[in-house]
Amino acid sequence: MTWLITGGAGYIGAHVARAMTEAGERVVALDDLSTGVPDRLPASIPLVQGSSLDGELLKRVLAEHAVTGVVHLAARKQVGESVEQPVRYYQENVGGLATLLEAVAGAGIERFVFSSSAAVYGNPDVDLITEDTPCVPMSPYGETKLAGEWLVRAAGRAHGIATVCLRYFNVAGAAAPELADTGVFNVVPMAFDRLTRGESPRVFGDDYPTPDGTGVRDYIHVADLADAHLAAARRLAEGRVTGDLTVNIGRGEGVSVRELFTLIGEVSGDTRPAVVEARRPGDAPRAVASARLAGERLGWSARRGMREMVESAWQGWLLHHPEAAARGAGA
Ligand code: WQD
Repeated sequence: MTWLITGGAGYIGAHVARAMTEAGERVVALDDLSTGVPDRLPASIPLVQGSSLDGELLKRVLAEHAVTGVVHLAARKQVGESVEQPVRYYQENVGGLATLLEAVAGAGIERFVFSSSAAVYGNPDVDLITEDTPCVPMSPYGETKLAGEWLVRAAGRAHGIATVCLRYFNVAGAAAPELADTGVFNVVPMAFDRLTRGESPRVFGDDYPTPDGTGVRDYIHVADLADAHLAAARRLAEGRVTGDLTVNIGRGEGVSVRELFTLIGEVSGDTRPAVVEARRPGDAPRAVASARLAGERLGWSARRGMREMVESAWQGWLLHHPEAAARGAGA
């Protein structure tokens, strides 16, 4: 098979491209390079610069590379920005997906993996979120992922495409420093950024109904997430997943902001205490996956733990912020 990976030069996409190539799959990457970085990809992986909104380009790429399966990651992914620019988010995330699915159906491609998000669930009051937990997204971003899932399943049924939607929980870490996330939009890079500036990391609320009062999340190493895509692609290729499948991708283990910051202090050597600030509007107290279904249906489970996640993220951070190393512990 040959797999098209959209968003293939992105933080997660490049990990997926690399994991699939290393496992012997043929891969071609598509990326508009709005946030993607070509250097994340080895020279052996062809990279086409372009958008999933460009139907003609998609048709050409699918034909020229004889693509037989698609892993679709290209999307806008900032929750706050989606509140300010909902039309753009629907256009790019849902419109881009519709254009891609039209090209996929036209080319007779029968296997499709879609990058979804725990953001589809919103703020559910459950200990472990299963795939049957009701979806009540709290942002236009989450809405575009949920609408995307509906579209993927409907197109799959109509055009005979077997589909897998992967609902990612909180992704962190890097398989190699040069593949690291360069954005400062999630808690791990945000804490690194504060430390690098000589400031304390911020805890957004310590009065949640959780064991230590801080928000609890299910953090997943990006290399494990990439392996989940490989597992989905393999199961589709082998015909062991048919129809549609939607699964959570997490570790099934809750980690609080305080626990995370303790680990970040140990790894960075900068153990200054965090400062507590007000809750961030819209944040859930707890969001932890049941990872059971992914184990059963994809034969996948996470292998890497919190320390490996934080250590690899820190190595990636140091590559782009050498001044962080120069500061030294507790500087
Ligand atoms: C994690 C925890 C914060 C920063 C978002 C999106 C989700 C997905 C991943 C997708 C929370 C706390 C954070 C800080 C803190 N996006 N926090 N201090 O909000 O769980 O998920 O990113 O592509 O859809 O909603 O992730 O990393 O922002 O926050 O205390 O400086 O850390 O309150 O409990 P979140 P996050």
